[in-house]
Amino acid sequence: MRTLIKNGRIVTATDDYRGDILVEGEKIALIGQSLDVGADRVIDATDRLVIPGGIDPHTHMDMPFGGTVSADDFESGTQAAAFGGTTTIIDFAIQTKGSSTIEGLDTWHKKAEGKATIDYAFHMIVTDMPEERLPEMRQLADEGITSYKLFMAYPGVLYVDDGTLYRAFRQAGDNGTRICMHAENGIVIDEIIKEAIRDGKTDPKWHALTRPTRMEAEGVHRAIAIAEVAKVPLYIVHLSSSDALEEVKRGRARGVDVTAETCPQYLFLDQSYYERPGFEGAKWVMTPALREKWNQDKLWQGLKFDDLCTVATDHCPFCFKEQKEMGIGDFRKIPNGAPGVENRMSLIYHGGVVEGRFDLNRFVEVTSTNAAKKFGLWPRKGTIAPGSDADIVIFDPNRVETISASNPCTHHMRVDYSTYEGFQVKGFTESVLSRGRLVVDKGVMAKTGGGQFIKRARCGEALR
Ligand code: URP
Ligand code: ZN
Ligand code: ZN
Repeated sequence: MRTLIKNGRIVTATDDYRGDILVEGEKIALIGQSLDVGADRVIDATDRLVIPGGIDPHTHMDMPFGGTVSADDFESGTQAAAFGGTTTIIDFAIQTKGSSTIEGLDTWHKKAEGKATIDYAFHMIVTDMPEERLPEMRQLADEGITSYKLFMAYPGVLYVDDGTLYRAFRQAGDNGTRICMHAENGIVIDEIIKEAIRDGKTDPKWHALTRPTRMEAEGVHRAIAIAEVAKVPLYIVHLSSSDALEEVKRGRARGVDVTAETCPQYLFLDQSYYERPGFEGAKWVMTPALREKWNQDKLWQGLKFDDLCTVATDHCPFCFKEQKEMGIGDFRKIPNGAPGVENRMSLIYHGGVVEGRFDLNRFVEVTSTNAAKKFGLWPRKGTIAPGSDADIVIFDPNRVETISASNPCTHHMRVDYSTYEGFQVKGFTESVLSRGRLVVDKGVMAKTGGGQFIKRARCGEALR
């Protein structure tokens, strides 16, 4: 199958020019001007941006959490991602405490296999790591799992102590892999939560009010110090506040290999959402929580100046009805997380490029290229170049849409509300190729399935 994409404005993290792209099978074969070649299919990209498929390095499909399971599985979640211009997700496999990480990986392979429409990879969530299990981390790396998420939050569930952090960090560093950190002091936060409950404070807003930004900053500070001593590259996930960002900047200034992602929810939404009437605030109960609005400018600056290198969604959807409602009368029982995998590209294009915070190249970098580079997908993914996977998005920079659970163009996620209900965005995904297959054709799902597991390379190694 040969596809010719004609007359587009091709934008990568470094380039910006008009041209044609010839796709042969799964790969980009040729790029040039006015290519005079035969093709089975021609896509006219006049007045459109042609960009590398988005990479969302933080999703939770089909994840058991908070007494329920996230509402999108790998089928619905990857279709929604494709509609939004994302062609690769990195999801999280989970180790059951006391069991092998390899078993955890097998479970997640079974969840995803044959269901995904776009490509996917896994980080491994490590919930314990005694000495005798350390060799598993090398085996995971050999199987393409070259990053691990550990939690300072959620005591009794996913939390691990500092000794476990250090052991896992050392091993990950020795293996040439990366640590992802959920950095919040969950032990202190649990004490604050107990005080709130004792005082009868049970509404959704108390989820946020019991998780001070200083406790996120403390977690980031501690993770950086441990990573520095253990000599492992560190990536802070879902960074939400200026206090936490300052710790990342300090670590980087003294030469520690640390960077961070933020998420659209922290760039666009704020703590006032928890003040919505009744129980509605539960829609935005996520961890870390939404912050005071002034933090948003600091996060945008962090993105612009590269202390934040990626925008991920932390897509972890729970329906308002029945799932979020489990926490009526007790915010601790609200499953933590919110949907967003479908909306990321439009939101960041709008907030970044349309609103003048950074340029098109930076947009591509934070939504695709940097995730590919940090997580061992580069240069197979994250760029438009001969030999790279033909993961390509035809993006209409002028189309305006209002994000809503009731807008069939913006909501294919299997969840009964939108995190960004009513937000108007300029810039929208029109068509999507995933390894050469046209999966979204002018807003219509053209092909489902066909997504593959991608074995990622170690830090600094190329994936071909
Ligand atoms: O609220 C969130 N973020 N849910 C998903 C789990 C996590 O901590 O990433
Ligand atoms: Zn987390
Ligand atoms: Zn997450």
